[in-house]
Amino acid sequence: MKVGMIGVGGMGATHNSAVKALSEKMDVEVTAIADMLPKYREEAAKLWPQAHIYTDGFALLREEVLDCVHICVPSYLHTELAVAAMEKGIHVLIEKPVALNEEDCRRLLETKARTGVRAMVGQVVRFFPEYELLKTAYESGKYGRLKSLVMQRLSQDVLWGYENWFQEEGKSGSVVLDLHIHDADFVRYMLGEPQGIQVQATAYENGMINQILTIYDYPGCFVSAEAVWDVTPALPFQPSYRAYFEDATITFHGRENPSVKIWKKDGAVEEPQLRQEEALAQCSSGINIQSLGSYYTEIAYFYDCLAKGLEPEKASLEEGVASVRLMLRELEAAHRALRG
Ligand SMILES: NC(=O)c1ccc[n+]([C@@H]2O[C@H](COP(=O)([O-])OP(=O)(O)OC[C@H]3O[C@@H](n4cnc5c(N)ncnc54)[C@H](O)[C@@H]3O)[C@@H](O)[C@H]2O)c1
Repeated sequence: MKVGMIGVGGMGATHNSAVKALSEKMDVEVTAIADMLPKYREEAAKLWPQAHIYTDGFALLREEVLDCVHICVPSYLHTELAVAAMEKGIHVLIEKPVALNEEDCRRLLETKARTGVRAMVGQVVRFFPEYELLKTAYESGKYGRLKSLVMQRLSQDVLWGYENWFQEEGKSGSVVLDLHIHDADFVRYMLGEPQGIQVQATAYENGMINQILTIYDYPGCFVSAEAVWDVTPALPFQPSYRAYFEDATITFHGRENPSVKIWKKDGAVEEPQLRQEEALAQCSSGINIQSLGSYYTEIAYFYDCLAKGLEPEKASLEEGVASVRLMLRELEAAHRALRG
């Protein structure tokens, strides 16, 4: 399978390494790479010395014959590149958020339906074992009914990024579409669409939302999710959740080891083993699969779907769009809350 990588900065470099690791098990090869910045495209090309190198992703799509492409550019460029790829019959893996407005959501869905390509969105939390464990616990009912779920995703101020794109709400969608979407998408994945939302927010001095706290209404339980781009670039990234079931509480702290604990009503505490032996392996190319985390699992799932001719239902374009639509409602509510 011939793969193109468009954008090999922060996230794209991880995708590129994951494909290299997967190429030891599957018939995949990155044959084309594009990035605006020489340092990133040169670094990415070290893994694929035969690949054709481009500056702009649109030129790559015009010139190359590919089976699939990874779109890991700043979020405001996702739709144009994804549509151009789909029009050429190329399957697409698009990083989250898949789009930043309703018009682009519609264009993506319409183009996919018309071209018949496969499209997956990088809603990677759906592939994290810590979150899969929670969903399995909820669906099995083994700890009784879920009474509440409190989620949090804290990040330092995002001062990296091509031409500082994170700092413009029109380009990143603010903390709401960029960071909060991870938890909101997982909530939708586990519990379906919320019956209602209540939103509180803060903003940077330029008016861009940098903190959102949403309460989602579900029958019989409530869910809250908070995401923060802090004022300081020093605060370490820390995702967490606490799920309160009738018979146990499950806690996850991304910076702790073990990260997940199950606190049973009888006082017992379980520390489940989450990573499989295989995930600890080192490839012959020197890439440590564990360091790729669930991005490796996510991309392996996408390629497996392509090989089998299946829709990547676990993180489909339709699901990615539904999460963007919820985020657009929350972003509007966040600005309304700030205006008072
Ligand atoms: N799934 C996750 O956990 C996760 C984490 C971080 C970022 N992301 C997403 O990944 C995407 C990229 O984020 P990032 O942190 O890597 O940003 P980044 O700014 O570090 O990298 C983006 C790269 O795209 C390149 N680029 C810009 N325009 C281009 C074009 N026309 N053609 C080719 N390359 C182009 C830039 O040169 C840059 O190197 C965003 O949508 C972001 O939301 C997802």
